[in-house]
Amino acid sequence: MTIEEKVGQMIQLSASEKKNLDVLEKWNIGSYLHCKGEQNNDLQKRAEHTRLGIPLIFGIDAIHGHCFENGATIFPTQLAMSCSWNTDVIRACGEVTAKEVKATGFHWTFSPVLCAGRDTRWGRIDETFGEDAWLCGEFALAMIEGYQGNGDFSSDDNILACGKHFVAYGETIGGRDAYDTFIPKRELFAHFLPPFEKIVKKGKVATLMAAYQAIDGVPCSASGWLLKDIPASWNMDGWIVTDWDNIRSLHLNQKVAENEKHAAYLGIKAGNNMIMTTFSFYLNTLELIQEGKVQKSEIDELISPILRDKFRLGLFDENRYKDFSQASTILGASEHWTQSLEASNESLVLLQNKNGILPLNKDDKKKILVTGPNADDFVAQLGDWSFGEGQSYMHDPNFQRKEFVSVLQGIQEEFGDTVVYNKGCDVIDTTNEDIEETTRMAQESDIVITVVGDTKSQHGEFYDRANLNLSGAQEDLLKALKKTGKPLIVILVSSKPLSIPWIKQHADALLVAFNPGSKGGVSIAKTLSGANNPSGKLTISFPHHVGQLPVYYNSYDGWHAGEHHLREGYHDIPADPTFVFGEGMSYTTFTYNNLKLTSTEISAGEMLKVSVDITNTGNKDGKEIIQVYYNDVYSSVTTPIKELCAYQKVNIAKGETKTVEFEIPFEEFSLVNEKLEEVVEEGEFELFVGASSKNEDLLKSKFIVRNTQVLRKLS
Ligand code: BGC
Repeated sequence: MTIEEKVGQMIQLSASEKKNLDVLEKWNIGSYLHCKGEQNNDLQKRAEHTRLGIPLIFGIDAIHGHCFENGATIFPTQLAMSCSWNTDVIRACGEVTAKEVKATGFHWTFSPVLCAGRDTRWGRIDETFGEDAWLCGEFALAMIEGYQGNGDFSSDDNILACGKHFVAYGETIGGRDAYDTFIPKRELFAHFLPPFEKIVKKGKVATLMAAYQAIDGVPCSASGWLLKDIPASWNMDGWIVTDWDNIRSLHLNQKVAENEKHAAYLGIKAGNNMIMTTFSFYLNTLELIQEGKVQKSEIDELISPILRDKFRLGLFDENRYKDFSQASTILGASEHWTQSLEASNESLVLLQNKNGILPLNKDDKKKILVTGPNADDFVAQLGDWSFGEGQSYMHDPNFQRKEFVSVLQGIQEEFGDTVVYNKGCDVIDTTNEDIEETTRMAQESDIVITVVGDTKSQHGEFYDRANLNLSGAQEDLLKALKKTGKPLIVILVSSKPLSIPWIKQHADALLVAFNPGSKGGVSIAKTLSGANNPSGKLTISFPHHVGQLPVYYNSYDGWHAGEHHLREGYHDIPADPTFVFGEGMSYTTFTYNNLKLTSTEISAGEMLKVSVDITNTGNKDGKEIIQVYYNDVYSSVTTPIKELCAYQKVNIAKGETKTVEFEIPFEEFSLVNEKLEEVVEEGEFELFVGASSKNEDLLKSKFIVRNTQVLRKLS
């Protein structure tokens, strides 16, 4: 290969601009992203006719299903799916997505997201698996297992995954997208790097995407420590792609490079293998090589894993072209929709159910008013990254997704002709003239179901929110409906937790659906009727007020927090969030007893064995998510109040008692000390087992670590 051909392999351009397509042959482009349908074969043919005919690798943001492709199966968003706490559901999403992505000639998805969602002002909360970094790692691993399968990338079932955004992109200051992050190295090692280490070591993830932002002043894309040293310490076999035009950002926005050539230099030295959409990178890099500032051997090193993966994908062989005649039978196949429906069923979180108002008995034939701006809105229901490249089809009224069932349609289907509907108000517009008519209809009904939340223009990249109250006239609508005295059931279809203390206080029932995907309407309706017993629990807390952010369960004790582990809050709002991590109800009830530790001491190399009895004390079969937290009571550095270290989701029949066992490895109790050592420190630990992160939901025990054990030196 000539050096020009080699540098070309580092370039990934967007297929949506003509100038990017024009340079395909001239620059021997290595990759395109966001192509459309059969465009892939045409581009592949053009690449075949270059001197060496090196095939292209195509990437796409298929992040909760192959959502840009019309006809594909759309799953709940990552945040919604995380509330299932069910790795089988998440893995299945990965498997289905991989098949559909492959069937349309793509090879690689920019998913999963491992950012922890701790500041809900951030526009991309819906893309996270919630607020707990450890749990994010567990779920990301399952998703990657689904995408990459057995690692045979020549198979129609497997694609390359991309863990993103490396690292701590969710921690940008003030929840503002792509601003700087100020997290010290110790905290990076303690919380934000371990999930990535897990997907590299256990998941053999094919690629990572460098995050947009700087950490403590050093942009991730320019950090050789982050992109080379850290992955090397994990023996990473995969490679790194930049985020969108992030090399140019080193010059344009982050200003650590004087010009785009200097930015290319920094990007190469830091170890970015593939450069997403920085058009100037190609010519600048050739100049840098000519000037002797970049060595040819550096380029060899950067492109070799990319070429290796093109071989692994079979692109030099029979997999170069895709037979699109088969795509339509794979895209949105009925078994794929079954998986999406199951994911949605398991993801719903019941947070309130006063006097057991839910489930509603269909046979009662009660008159139901369905109202609220998100009751019949596919944009709000499907969530971000579902509308085509650049989200471009979103405002086209004719654009509909296959198999889409709105909440209204689902309820009509489930409850029949006793259902009436009026939108009530808009999610953005504050005019409330429809409220009067809706209130009149409520008075003539027996039950009111109001579907509120947010919509696409209020979240996503660039769309952070300073205000997390219900927008538009939604709260006016709810208040007016409450005044009618009719039972008020609220369904929240939103991309993220909003500040909804009013709903907590006044609604009779609250079901959270985040963005439940195409089949969300079915699962919500089946949950209202009791055909689906809700089994999701929150993976993210709901702030009482936006001023409380960031608010998450595994925070640190304030000096004034006192001995009862109360969160040190603001004096003018309640100390706790409205709803907390781990919370969620079922139509049955569970009690926890007999928390046992087989040994109250643990040493290096051992497992902590824990068991607990859970009884289904209600009159329905149900699923319970049993959560295990620990706290290192006295340690050389301050540690979180409690940290999740294990969980299980278990089916328990009515009346049944199940003994659930956990084996927790010694290493789970480690911290990172001042010397940047990962260490399990001797002394007393608390262990909590129960139904949520709330103290009152947890049984408590203690154990002792006998001898301090340094596990490794980090740096
Ligand atoms: C996002 C990435 C995404 C990429 C390609 C960026 O703006 O931050 O998450 O994969 O665009 O669409």
